[in-house]
Amino acid sequence: MTGSQQADRPSGYASLADRDAVLAALTRLIAEAWESFERPRPEEPAIDDEVRERLALPLPELPADPSQVLGDAARILDESVSPSRPLYLAYVGSTGLEVGVLADALTATYDVNLAVTARAADLVERQAVEWVAQFVGFPCAEGAFTSGGMTSNLTGLLAARERALPGCRVDGFAGRQGTVYCSAESHHSVVRGAEAAGIGSSFVRSLAFDERRRMRVPELDRALGDDRATGLIPVAVVANGGTTLTGAVDPLAAIADVCERHGVWLHVDGAYGLPAAATEVAGPLFAGLERADSVTLDAHKWLGLQKACSLVLVREPGALEATFGHEEAYMRRDEVRNAVERTLEYSRPLRSLKLWLAFRTHGAAAFRGWIENTVELARELAAEIRADPEFELLCEPTLSTVCFRHLPADRADLDDHNTELAAAAQRDGRIYLASAVLDDRVCLRACFVNFRTRREDLGLVLATLRELALRPASGGPASA
Ligand SMILES: Cc1ncc(COP(=O)(O)O)c(C=O)c1O
Repeated sequence: MTGSQQADRPSGYASLADRDAVLAALTRLIAEAWESFERPRPEEPAIDDEVRERLALPLPELPADPSQVLGDAARILDESVSPSRPLYLAYVGSTGLEVGVLADALTATYDVNLAVTARAADLVERQAVEWVAQFVGFPCAEGAFTSGGMTSNLTGLLAARERALPGCRVDGFAGRQGTVYCSAESHHSVVRGAEAAGIGSSFVRSLAFDERRRMRVPELDRALGDDRATGLIPVAVVANGGTTLTGAVDPLAAIADVCERHGVWLHVDGAYGLPAAATEVAGPLFAGLERADSVTLDAHKWLGLQKACSLVLVREPGALEATFGHEEAYMRRDEVRNAVERTLEYSRPLRSLKLWLAFRTHGAAAFRGWIENTVELARELAAEIRADPEFELLCEPTLSTVCFRHLPADRADLDDHNTELAAAAQRDGRIYLASAVLDDRVCLRACFVNFRTRREDLGLVLATLRELALRPASGGPASA
């Protein structure tokens, strides 16, 4: 908009006085952040006093210069933990792909609401769902973008509940009791989903896993049979397409056989791991995926995009509408059904645009390459650990997660030592990883999902931990 057009705007209109200047300031701030993500940070900055002071100020009554406020916001974010940094290896991070930033800006600009029909945006969402299904090899009839793996898993469970207990969404359980099956290493969103679906966490069967940390299928078979024999109604089996703790992938084909025999819905929680199904190195682990009834995939994890960008894909057409469909006086059905009839959420942003833009900009082949590279980095770190007597590998990586621990010379309390070492790494900031508990032992867990992580930076991981373990100054584990 030109200066004269801006002058014509009605007074009180909440737009920025000098858009060009503000956009230029924002562009510079984003470019600086991207530049800083190119390599590991020498240290994690503390929250400085000025930032603390500004963040304690009361509600501002008067306006401030937007470029200055943007500068403040960028400084605050620079003093926050960002999974976009190349050696952020904690939890299941992301990449924060640059193209996702652009898409989010556009999405926010148009602020499309996918609760109701939104014309072309509906088609973007549908195409992005189909592209993801093609990418991982899932015969998807319908799907939706959601706010996260938690919501996608809950969506799958609710669809399964409606199939196992028809009419449950209207009449409640009416004396019936459902059950859910997963491995003892499933993400707790399965338990929370069962709680939210009214099934109750005490009816979630957490099944034992084998030496590769995969659900034991004979146990599943037995549990389903036992529960049916006592009048319980199995609602869903939730198999892991990459556990959070170690990346284990349950034997999907064998689980699908059991589900088919017992007539139970199979949901695959691939929030973290499912993108690996698209690769040659890890694809075979996902054999049987195509027989699942529904799957979860978080594009804000291993597809590198910004939160929140999760998908739930469903094999059977109409299952989502059977679960969520409603016609309301203020939400009439016309010839095209509103998207809200297929989702748990009501107002919903166009989350799919960033995935759509990312696939179009980079191409699926680039994603496959990036994912394979992160799998390779995990294998290399595991090899370094195996070769180093100061460290112990606790679990062979299946996908891109490495669980290991540092062994100090005196072998004093390893659990405390590794807990403190993870905390010291977080304070230090060159690498960022978290501790976890594996088979009652505290370990360090490094999860490679960031496409910015480079092979040449990998050496920093063990070197930094070794240095921090020896550091006597305050903050290092040696002094703790
Ligand atoms: C396997 C698995 N399922 C579900 C979730 C929950 O996903 P979200 O944080 O997107 O809700 C996670 C999160 O790490 C996960 O690893």
